[in-house]
Amino acid sequence: MKFRNKKVLVTGGAGFIGSRLVDRLVEEGAKVTVLDDLFTGRKENIGYLTEIEFVNGSVTDFKLVSKLVKKADYVFNLAVRNIIVSTASPQLDFQVNTGGIFNILNAAKDYPVERVVYTSSVSVYGNPKYLPINEDDRLYSLNPYAASKQSGENYCNAFHETYGVSTAILRFSNVYGVNQMPQNPYCGVISKFFSNVMEGKPPLIHGDGLQTRDFTYVDDAVEAVLKAALSPKAEGQTFNVGTGFETSINHLAQLIMQIAGYDVDPVYVDKRDIDNIRRRVVNIEKIRRTLRWTPTVTLSKGLEKTYEWLASLYPVKKGSKGLLKVTFSNGFRA
Ligand SMILES: NC(=O)c1ccc[n+]([C@@H]2O[C@H](COP(=O)([O-])OP(=O)(O)OC[C@H]3O[C@@H](n4cnc5c(N)ncnc54)[C@H](O)[C@@H]3O)[C@@H](O)[C@H]2O)c1
Repeated sequence: MKFRNKKVLVTGGAGFIGSRLVDRLVEEGAKVTVLDDLFTGRKENIGYLTEIEFVNGSVTDFKLVSKLVKKADYVFNLAVRNIIVSTASPQLDFQVNTGGIFNILNAAKDYPVERVVYTSSVSVYGNPKYLPINEDDRLYSLNPYAASKQSGENYCNAFHETYGVSTAILRFSNVYGVNQMPQNPYCGVISKFFSNVMEGKPPLIHGDGLQTRDFTYVDDAVEAVLKAALSPKAEGQTFNVGTGFETSINHLAQLIMQIAGYDVDPVYVDKRDIDNIRRRVVNIEKIRRTLRWTPTVTLSKGLEKTYEWLASLYPVKKGSKGLLKVTFSNGFRA
């Protein structure tokens, strides 16, 4: 209960990971303010939490960010234009993904914020030379999203070194689980595969399916965020957040079909321009040793939890169509 009565700002708090974080913070007794422009976020994700303050606005608005940072003990930056949006509009990506954390840090340097936690991504490594990937391995941006996330990290380090802003950086690896809406056209592969099979369709695999990823359950990622905020040892540090296990997309599709009770052959389609990472698995020894964080949810358990949640949302029978219709503020619909 270390967050009891602490004032906490969560940018992107209506999104997938942000909303699970807000949930936990409220449980911990924090006074939470969410700043979100609802681009991919949904108010429903946090709408039941009457005790939080919701501000509909953008991290690109420095005046607003500054006003909110001024009254915060902790700031968690999860606002993001994700990789697909970012590839379509690198300018927007730069403004939100780099500009957002810049605004937060620029405000935090003038106020006694206890910690700014920046959620970065393992995409900053590009195609790794060695596996598992260590935090001090070479960084190489293969797309504007990776460039803007890396740039956000650089600003965290620069503001920590120059102005003494207390920062911590987490590089998330493929987070999945509850609140990752498959209707969101930018959601991850796990939600997409589940929604495919729950509609009675085969999973759609981009490429040969031999590409690998390290999948992290959302509640484990949230726990890492909390530890990074509270531990004095996290200050000025960067941590990988994953499991250390490598899973191929083909294997993932099989697991998902087993859990959802479907037995069909996946359909293979062309790779997209963002599918340029062949293998990925991260070394999590640093966060394990420094923050005593360890993932607690295995992939099969996490997939089961995700399936149970999706099944509670989808009033559909095996093989039938009829996904819940959800509208996103940016005009996307299931
Ligand atoms: N999901 C993953 O697998 C993954 C992997 C690596 C890193 N991350 C990082 O985790 C964080 C959260 O990602 P997510 O998966 O929950 O994404 P998400 O799209 O579900 O959530 C992002 C939230 O930010 C909000 N947002 C977008 N632009 C905004 C703006 N200008 N101002 C305020 N709010 C804005 C969106 O409406 C949404 O609620 C991001 O920093 C992302 O880079 C996620």
